[in-house]
Amino acid sequence: MIAPSILSADFARLADEAAAVAGGGPGEQAGADWLHVDVMDAHFVPNLTLGLPVVESLRAATDIPLDCHLMIEDPDRWAPGYAEAGAKNVTVHVEAAHDPVMLARNLRAAGALAGLSIKPNTPLDPYVELLKHYDTLLVMSVEPGFGGQSFIPEVLEKVRAARRLVDTGHLKLIVEIDGGINADTIEQAAEAGVDCFVAGSAVYGAEDPGRAVSVLRDRVRR
Ligand code: DX5
Ligand code: ZN
Repeated sequence: MIAPSILSADFARLADEAAAVAGGGPGEQAGADWLHVDVMDAHFVPNLTLGLPVVESLRAATDIPLDCHLMIEDPDRWAPGYAEAGAKNVTVHVEAAHDPVMLARNLRAAGALAGLSIKPNTPLDPYVELLKHYDTLLVMSVEPGFGGQSFIPEVLEKVRAARRLVDTGHLKLIVEIDGGINADTIEQAAEAGVDCFVAGSAVYGAEDPGRAVSVLRDRVRR
């Protein structure tokens, strides 16, 4: 799956930017699977982006499933609202969640997939049991906060470990990667076992975002 991040899009034209990666009708290019929406609160990360009202408007303006990545403090309080707004997947950071089991339950009860994210320096091992309550694992391959940073290949070890846990039936997870994914880095992520690739600048920094999605997809087609 390919999930373009609107962090690198034009925030004044979000509906158009969503449409640009949505793909066409029968016979046209496939388009993006999810639209990745980076929510930042200037506390958990040193940057501020958008919040629930924008997600609600975006939900009404596009049919692409929304993949909300919450880089915020106290996600226990705020994340379920994004599920209620119709997000397909709502990802919270394990470094910020107070009661991640209850939080996953609340996200699922509100109709969303429950996602858990780990920053580049956060190990996977302590959270393997916790991940039984989650549907997606978002492995950050840059420090969260900004688009356009360089891919950190060391995180692929965590992807491989997660892939093994899924393939051996210990966990049932969509493994997602986020940060520095482009036509050069996507193949190594795919080889490590990623299911869903988030790409911001590689898609919205391109002349033709729809084509950039196709290029990424071609690189990982098996
Ligand atoms: C970074 C965000 C990413 C960001 C990725 O904190 O979580 O989703 O948009 O941007 P690129 O693909 O440019 O690294
Ligand atoms: Zn993100």
